[in-house]
Amino acid sequence: TYLGIDVGTSAIKAVLVDERQAVLAESSVALSVSRPQPLWSEQEPEAWWAAVEGAVTALRKRAPAPFAAVLGIGLSGQMHGAVVLGDRDQPLCPAILWNDGRSFREAAELNETHPQLSHVTGVLPMPGFTAPKLLWLARHRPEIVEAVRTIMLPKDYVRLKLTGEKVTEMSDAAGTWWLDEARRDWSDDALAATGLDRSRMPRLCEGSDPSGTLRPEIAQAWGLSGRVVVAGGAGDAAAGAVGLGAVDHGAAFLSLGTSGQLFVTTSQFRAAPETLIHAFSHAVPGRWFQMAAMLNAASCLAWAAELLGGDIASLLQEAENRFDQPASCLFLPYLMGERTPHNDPHARGVFFGMTPRVGRAELVQSVLEGVAFSFADAKESLEMAGTSVSQASVIGGGSRSGLWTRILASALNIPLTRYAGSDKGPAFGAARLARLAVTGEAVEAVCTAPPVQDVVAPDPRLVEAYGPRIKAFRRLYQALKPEFE
Ligand code: XUL
Repeated sequence: TYLGIDVGTSAIKAVLVDERQAVLAESSVALSVSRPQPLWSEQEPEAWWAAVEGAVTALRKRAPAPFAAVLGIGLSGQMHGAVVLGDRDQPLCPAILWNDGRSFREAAELNETHPQLSHVTGVLPMPGFTAPKLLWLARHRPEIVEAVRTIMLPKDYVRLKLTGEKVTEMSDAAGTWWLDEARRDWSDDALAATGLDRSRMPRLCEGSDPSGTLRPEIAQAWGLSGRVVVAGGAGDAAAGAVGLGAVDHGAAFLSLGTSGQLFVTTSQFRAAPETLIHAFSHAVPGRWFQMAAMLNAASCLAWAAELLGGDIASLLQEAENRFDQPASCLFLPYLMGERTPHNDPHARGVFFGMTPRVGRAELVQSVLEGVAFSFADAKESLEMAGTSVSQASVIGGGSRSGLWTRILASALNIPLTRYAGSDKGPAFGAARLARLAVTGEAVEAVCTAPPVQDVVAPDPRLVEAYGPRIKAFRRLYQALKPEFE
């Protein structure tokens, strides 16, 4: 069997997958995010490790015999985080996460001083990425940067705990803004732009390659015998793709997790930084992807549910019961600022068009629609980058909602395929990478599409009704933009 572990933002998720690719057991341990200042978003690396141990303990209880047969472990994780380690590999400060906007000045400066580098690193420097965060640390916490021995990504810190190895793989290194995506190697120029060199970077491997073996003391504590391989793994976006079998040119999906992505696999590196598309290395060799990355997706629904004091399932039901046409109010989903298509860490969430007739079901509908409209923007950004999307699959917690999937299919005007079990997403993809690292099988043989659950077609009446709403949504952001700064 193979173990996939996803180091997410809201939880650590673990899945156990057998030789026939059936999920035998899963577990999850919740994580919290700390926001000590406006624009900041942090987690303690030690909390990830404690939660990994908790998730593994739960998995062992659920499926003791299959767990004892684990041959390989794959890691997936939230991308872009800055984990800075000192000379005893101790974190020197909390990890600065993918949705932390504090380094907006440094990101803008990198763009001004090194405009040509985005064509190498695949994306405009934006404040969520690792590189501008290190520049921010150099300015605001110079004593930390002086003491930094290794810069790591979130899942790679867990790997260090598991194996003792300092390694990352292409699809997560891709999100640092330090990778030469075409050559699949660190860019010395991008590192130099932030005052760094390779000596502080982890070694690179492919996601489907072995990166190390499980430390004997951990193997023993977890009841595992023999050599357990830890695969390179992937950033969560690419791990989701591997789980869906999106490894061939043109394969497209959207992910409705805490964050949102519209992702298309490409056979070549195709940068278009001016569109705010991310052109990154995939988790399997010789492939890349283009991705629109949104900072706000299912997180908006979770936030609204908290605010409205209802559980998500019943709020969705209420919204579905009244659903007939677009909500009269509009929601801008930019609670955490936004990356694609705005590169605006100062953007904020907005409810617009409130009247005494707007009740909570309609408010929830406007949240679902606001996120869907931001995916319509994502589709347009990809088109500007030369990639048109005519159909896609959906993964992530939000894809469990039939209503949300219907709204998305109509807002994007494309059919959306839901696969059975696709809410397991990145952790399942990570387990597949573990298998590839252990068996050396062909990528295509392992990374197949799961069985189709349903295909949700756009509804022509809604497509037409959403057209003017999407235009109003875009105008509303443009009108408010000066107010956000
Ligand atoms: C992708 C991105 C998020 C994080 C969090 O660019 O920022 O998907 O990986 O999960």
